[in-house]
Amino acid sequence: MSDLRTTVGPLTFKNPILTASGCCGYGLELKEFFPLDRLGALVVKGLSLKPRDGNPPPRICETPAGMLNSIGLQNIGIEAFVNEVLPILEADGIPVVANLFGEEEEAYVALARRCEAARGICAVELNLSCPNVKKGGIHFGTVPEAIKALTAKVRQVYTHSLWVKLSPNVSTVVPLAVAAQQAGADALTCINTLKGMAIDPLTWKAKLHTTYGGLSGPAIKPVALRFVHETARAVDIPIVGCGGAATALDIVEFLLAGARAVQVGTLLFQNPALPVELEEGLRAYLDERGIPSLDAIIGKVKTHA
Ligand code: SIN
Repeated sequence: MSDLRTTVGPLTFKNPILTASGCCGYGLELKEFFPLDRLGALVVKGLSLKPRDGNPPPRICETPAGMLNSIGLQNIGIEAFVNEVLPILEADGIPVVANLFGEEEEAYVALARRCEAARGICAVELNLSCPNVKKGGIHFGTVPEAIKALTAKVRQVYTHSLWVKLSPNVSTVVPLAVAAQQAGADALTCINTLKGMAIDPLTWKAKLHTTYGGLSGPAIKPVALRFVHETARAVDIPIVGCGGAATALDIVEFLLAGARAVQVGTLLFQNPALPVELEEGLRAYLDERGIPSLDAIIGKVKTHA
């Protein structure tokens, strides 16, 4: 049987299927559909220092092959997460990645410090790229110097795995990836959502309260693959793919592009048991071809050049 284990920097996950931040809250509802320890790791909804209500509705709408969201980083806050949710996840034996969001550098540092002190978090993922709030991550996520400064500050207080989630809302990603690596990131997540818009042609109204939102789902998979491939060739740290994976073959594509793990998000709304199906489908794909382990396919895309 093929070995589905993967490493992301110093971490080893039993398989490369992770949840994407924001698409399953803190994972607790997923327990109705499968044992959480079937996941490689659980990446939780972005956490801030204080609880947030997020943006007013409507803040989600369906689009062809995707979804626009403008949740506005609603969350229960780091203290409630650490004290009330983390012990439950720890009992489930699932590696937990805490996605963190702040409005200024000090907030990220304080969040990372809290995660350093908490038991049961194997990595933090810095959300530097939310397109849905006026103030915050987006400012850090598009400027290499800002990414470098912020990542370096978090690095000083956080000794475990530090992942940086990159924004696709830029003209070129390589300088951002290099900046994060230089500042001490252990891995990069590619990508967050693409900024978009939907309009109701009957009422002429923007479908989202905030007018613009973040596009996710299969519609963005080709963009995510491109970002994974470009960054994997530009840096030495591992890449975690994120963007529209819906089938086991999509997971294979992300691995071939260079991802060492793949986050699954939007499609969870359609099929919450998807991670288990992806894991089983990936195993069948590898077994049928006699591929012993993921290292035999990670980054092995054949280009025409
Ligand atoms: C949100 O809560 O608005 C989505 C988070 C993100 O895209 O970073």
